[in-house]
Amino acid sequence: MNVKKKAIKNGGKSMLMTNRDLINTLDFSIEEQESILSIAQKIILRPVDFANSLNGKIMGSLFFEPSTRTRLSFEAAMHRLGGAVIGFSEQNASSVSKGESLRDTIQTVAQYSDVIVMRHPKEGAPVFASKYSEVPIINAGDGGREHPTQTLTDILTIRSKMGKLNNLTIGLCGDLKFGRTVHSLVKNISRYPNINFIFVSPKELEIPDYIKNYLNENQIEYKEMENLEEAIQHMDVLYMTRVQKERFFNEEDYIRLKDSYILDTLKMKLAKKNMIILHPLPRVNEISYDVDSDPRAMYFKQTKYGMVVRMALLYKILHQESFKQL
Ligand code: NCD
Repeated sequence: MNVKKKAIKNGGKSMLMTNRDLINTLDFSIEEQESILSIAQKIILRPVDFANSLNGKIMGSLFFEPSTRTRLSFEAAMHRLGGAVIGFSEQNASSVSKGESLRDTIQTVAQYSDVIVMRHPKEGAPVFASKYSEVPIINAGDGGREHPTQTLTDILTIRSKMGKLNNLTIGLCGDLKFGRTVHSLVKNISRYPNINFIFVSPKELEIPDYIKNYLNENQIEYKEMENLEEAIQHMDVLYMTRVQKERFFNEEDYIRLKDSYILDTLKMKLAKKNMIILHPLPRVNEISYDVDSDPRAMYFKQTKYGMVVRMALLYKILHQESFKQL
């Protein structure tokens, strides 16, 4: 089945880009996503053209789980477009610590802001929030499920550094079970032509069945391997991930699995000369610091693409939006 046809089209909300939620990575069609990527390219070339484009707009930034890059890049993006930010970076700093429900927090913040960016440890929390929000909700990560704006970041980085988004073998290594960035990236990028995957993980941290089913249904090739040395030579992109400590039920399993894969300069000798290394970050131990000076290491450049693509997303979602009636 054509993946595009399966894209969730945001139910009752407007089909225009304005007033659209971004909760699942397939919420925007390929055409809509391409238009965000093309705005990102324009921002890279002439940021000054966008400097005041969100003057007077306010982003609510609700982080119920820790974050460095996602939160700060969203905040920086809003500031760089002339907008303002309100919110909290931990739930103890909000009335949630007094027992307020998510529903009431969202209904309140929606009165003050034009868009809400939220990260929550519970899978599905952003869908729930979207039912009670008058303004668009952007999912900045929900539990082990999805992280659609990291995917926009990853896709912009791949296109900018590889010059294409087709005919690529993409390797993903590490915690493929709990890594939400992995789930969103695989589903999204598999919509482009001739993309195939190599999944490298310990048995316990394998990519979930629902992702494999999705790939099977859409006739997208993938291999599962346990040995990074064997797999790396076939890859055009290597997407490293950390083992997601906070999603483990017991400490022993985490300790046993946490150093399953460490990318170092020796392993990099086996990789293609033009392979790129991505990582959503934070890194714990899975890429040695020596690799940072390899010209193929893109993970810090990737963080900058993350800010730019969030500028493009906010611009696209908010630019033409007017205040709703009180
Ligand atoms: C990722 C996340 O929060 O899922 N980080 C990020 O947003 N860049 C990856 C991770 O925490 O391992």
